[in-house]
Amino acid sequence: MAAASSSSSLPSSQPFSPPSSILIIGSGVFGLSTALALARRDAFSQCSITVVDRSDPSQPGTFPSPDAASIDTSRIIRADYADPAYTALGDEAQAQWRKQDTPADLGAQGRYHEAGLLLVGDASPPAPVAAPSSGGLKPKLTGMDYARKSWANVLSLASKNPALAARVRELPNPDAIREALGTGGSSGSWGYINNNSGWANATASMAWFFDQVQKTGRVNFVAGTVVSLERAEDTVTGAKLSDGRVLSADLVVVAAGAWTGGLVDLAGQTVATGQVLGYMDITEAEQEKLANMPVILNLSTGLFIIPPTDRVLKIAQHAYGYLNPVTPANPPLPFSPSPATQPATTTPTPISLPRTALTDPDLSIPAAAAADLRRALHEMIPWPALHDRPFRKTRLCWYADTADADFLVDYHPHWRGLFVATGDSGHAFKFLPVIGDKVVDCIVRDRPVQFRGKWDWKVTELQQSAAGVAVFTEDGTRGGTPGLVLAEALGEVVPSV
Ligand SMILES: *[C@@H]1O[C@H](CO)[C@@H](O)[C@H](O)[C@H]1NC(C)=O
Ligand SMILES: *[C@@H]1O[C@H](CO)[C@@H](O)[C@H](O)[C@H]1NC(C)=O
Ligand SMILES: *[C@@H]1O[C@H](CO)[C@@H](O)[C@H](O)[C@H]1NC(C)=O
Repeated sequence: MAAASSSSSLPSSQPFSPPSSILIIGSGVFGLSTALALARRDAFSQCSITVVDRSDPSQPGTFPSPDAASIDTSRIIRADYADPAYTALGDEAQAQWRKQDTPADLGAQGRYHEAGLLLVGDASPPAPVAAPSSGGLKPKLTGMDYARKSWANVLSLASKNPALAARVRELPNPDAIREALGTGGSSGSWGYINNNSGWANATASMAWFFDQVQKTGRVNFVAGTVVSLERAEDTVTGAKLSDGRVLSADLVVVAAGAWTGGLVDLAGQTVATGQVLGYMDITEAEQEKLANMPVILNLSTGLFIIPPTDRVLKIAQHAYGYLNPVTPANPPLPFSPSPATQPATTTPTPISLPRTALTDPDLSIPAAAAADLRRALHEMIPWPALHDRPFRKTRLCWYADTADADFLVDYHPHWRGLFVATGDSGHAFKFLPVIGDKVVDCIVRDRPVQFRGKWDWKVTELQQSAAGVAVFTEDGTRGGTPGLVLAEALGEVVPSV
């Protein structure tokens, strides 16, 4: 397995000594999973662990926050990845999701459904586009490249187990795709079905996971909104909350998802993008007709549909997404404590940060995006009764996107006492049961070998100071147009000439 290495990813020559206190900002997938892994590691048995989140865990139904990326009806659970490192990690996670023998198991009580995943793409890939400017990390994959590599990776995974192998089948043309989809619809011109993949109920799984963390008795949960990081010289010492409280710790782990860029300057590293979802009410009879439908994801456009279980059909798009550039009241922690390495700019640069229905109750999705969701519906489930049925609800789900869709799990290059675990790039949820252990491996400077060079902090001073390095995820899974601005797409702002 070829893994790029970089000096910061190698274990430090000094033995790691656990801090006496750790503060985790954010109780989403990265934060909660990391808290559980820390609570279970002997090396941290003397360390106090605190998780702070803007939502209150003692209030059922609001934890994690309803506008967080980890919340909603469903998330695809797959080992179908173009990159074998994530295929292996997905396989590790699926071993946990598949546990459903007792109600206490992660995959039980409707939390995991192995409904199958139909991945489709375009048979004639467009000419390759140059890699993005931020590092030139990997060549850009098309949706079709991604689908083919993913197929090869799941076949290789299944080759060790004939039972798994029998559940993967190539779908070489639209008719084969139509047959596997079973709705009468078809999408794309080549694909494959993997019945070893499925989806999880995100809300229910997060609640289950929170329960596991609670049961350790080791983690202190604090409800509060972090507005800034506390620092002394070159060290981050804690976090300040909106009500003025300060939480101090020897090590601060920022795992605030798409909100992370509001606390730590992540210019050129990750960017918050809003992704569209639509929910449509269906009848019991319609749901029954979809009982054997797999998840379908068209990698040429990122449009996908998840089979319904509670008479709600979810249609969404995994796209370049919408940016929401704002200038926050509290600027994020600068890239470096020393002014010499600061970008020579005095005007605050806008940062893309989430805009959600919690702060903006009338927020809708852009009309063009709603039309794309409907196009997916017409193609994938072409039933006259659904053709014009309105969405009951639409939503923006905010990703922390990196250029290569690799996570960002690393110590900060300049600030002591600061670690970030973010950069979900819209594909982290499935790793909920295993990602925390990998994050803690990185904290103890024993980064898993297959992720060396991938989860590292990649931006150099030079790139950071070349302000406004655009980050677009070019891993082959994203549809749509890069760089759309939400307010403009909503018709709120006339673009300046
Ligand atoms: C699915 O992919 C094909 C290309 O294979 C594309 O032409 C089509 O528009 C896509 N459909 C949807 C609903 O995304
Ligand atoms: C996948 O599962 C569906 C529904 O159970 C079944 O009809 C189909 O034959 C399966 N496909 C493969 C390749 O196993
Ligand atoms: C997911 O679980 C929640 C309860 O935790 C439940 O209210 C909801 O109906 C479930 N959704 C699906 C799609 O199964």
